[in-house]
Amino acid sequence: MPDDQPRPTGLLDRLQALLGPSGLLSAPEDLAPHLTDWRGLYRGRAPFLLRPANATELSEAVRLCAGAGAALVPQGGNTSMVGGAVPDESGLQVPVSLARLNRMRDVDPVDMTMTVEAGVVVKAAQDAAAAAGCLFPLSFGGEGSATVGGVLSTNAGGNTTVRYGNARELVLGLEVVLPDGRVWNGLRRLRKDNTGYALRHLFVGAEGTLGFITAAVLRLFPRARESEVAFCAVASEEAALSLFRRFRDRDETAVRAFEYMSGAGVDLVARHVAGAALPVETRAGHYALVDLASSRPDAGLRGMMEAVLEEALEAEEVLDAAIGGSEAQRAALWRIREEHPEAQRLAGASVKNDVSVPVSKTPELMRRCSEALRALVPGSVPVPFGHLGDGNIHMNLLQPEDTDPAAFLARSHEIMDAVNAVVRDLGGSPSAEHGIGRLKAGILEEWRGGPELDLMHRIKAAIDPAGLMNPGKLFPP
Ligand code: MLT
Ligand code: ZN
Repeated sequence: MPDDQPRPTGLLDRLQALLGPSGLLSAPEDLAPHLTDWRGLYRGRAPFLLRPANATELSEAVRLCAGAGAALVPQGGNTSMVGGAVPDESGLQVPVSLARLNRMRDVDPVDMTMTVEAGVVVKAAQDAAAAAGCLFPLSFGGEGSATVGGVLSTNAGGNTTVRYGNARELVLGLEVVLPDGRVWNGLRRLRKDNTGYALRHLFVGAEGTLGFITAAVLRLFPRARESEVAFCAVASEEAALSLFRRFRDRDETAVRAFEYMSGAGVDLVARHVAGAALPVETRAGHYALVDLASSRPDAGLRGMMEAVLEEALEAEEVLDAAIGGSEAQRAALWRIREEHPEAQRLAGASVKNDVSVPVSKTPELMRRCSEALRALVPGSVPVPFGHLGDGNIHMNLLQPEDTDPAAFLARSHEIMDAVNAVVRDLGGSPSAEHGIGRLKAGILEEWRGGPELDLMHRIKAAIDPAGLMNPGKLFPP
């Protein structure tokens, strides 16, 4: 522990005795990865890190910390886009990694549920469901590191929301360690359960401000027996929306994902990521990726894909298209979309604007924001991309080539305000799927004022009266 940090000695000794050597780490090299986020944008300090092995240990540790007034910061895979899992600079907040709560408790292909602990990596949950012949549909770029506890705490969305909903829609039951150390066992696997307030929905999306999600019962679905993916160059933002509507109107249940990419984003991927070249001959200002899937073995998705693309080519909405003929080709098409965040990271500093509007407004959102951002930061590159089928666009802005990244990032709030002005005008939300975290702490005041924010404060005060759970996230410190 660095010498200039306060030592909560009595507490430290008791936690050490409770958790043992692998449950409490304080060497700087052990702490370092837990004090920053994956982009290195937030850096905090901490006296030590807790790594309980199970919910009982966590519950005891939380009880001890609550008694000592120590603030706790729940951590999953540390893939937050908004600094939601990084402690602040005070050196007093204690990060708590749930990585050791990583048991797959049960997969049930009759009930179509799986019961998993918070530290299970999303990809491992998908694989366990697949091994039982089922599908756990939550899917996004960070799925190889993000954990179930983290995605539930942030109500993550991702690529398949258009078909299966956000993380919230996939939860039937929860186990939670409350801020006073009590364990709420709500691991029910019921499809119908009208027994008062649906408490699980409070903890999903609470960003760790109300307690620790330690396990969850998740919904499973029949696995896909047929799938088709196409990468299309499209004529405009409107053409992308119209293409989405053509697929959705033909068979809504078949559209597993519908993603938009700008020419700027696809160029960045081609430039910075090896083996991610443009799969169509036409270079365009706009691209769309459509993913169709069905659990029916005779769904005829190839026919549907070709017929809809044909119509859209005739209408001059689609300019060119490549259909993946094999699993490997489909993955290669997806890769161009999935590498967008990494390509932007490699290209320089980016300000991320994870926003949503009604689906019908997505073309206007992208156009107006791009125009406003170019005027605000001359030479910057707007890189809108994302989940058009949900109305969720990542209206990201890449720094101008010749600018100091720090000077550009210092303008983050100005940039977010310019985007949010358009979002507000279009009836949207300033946080679609990444959450509020540290980056946007404080915006609720502006966006969810009146009785809505008052109720949120009362809920927080009722469940965490001492304010020890993830302080400085969601609400300003
Ligand atoms: C994604 O969909 O790839 C991420 O949520 C967006 C981002 O990195 O801005
Ligand atoms: Zn996204």
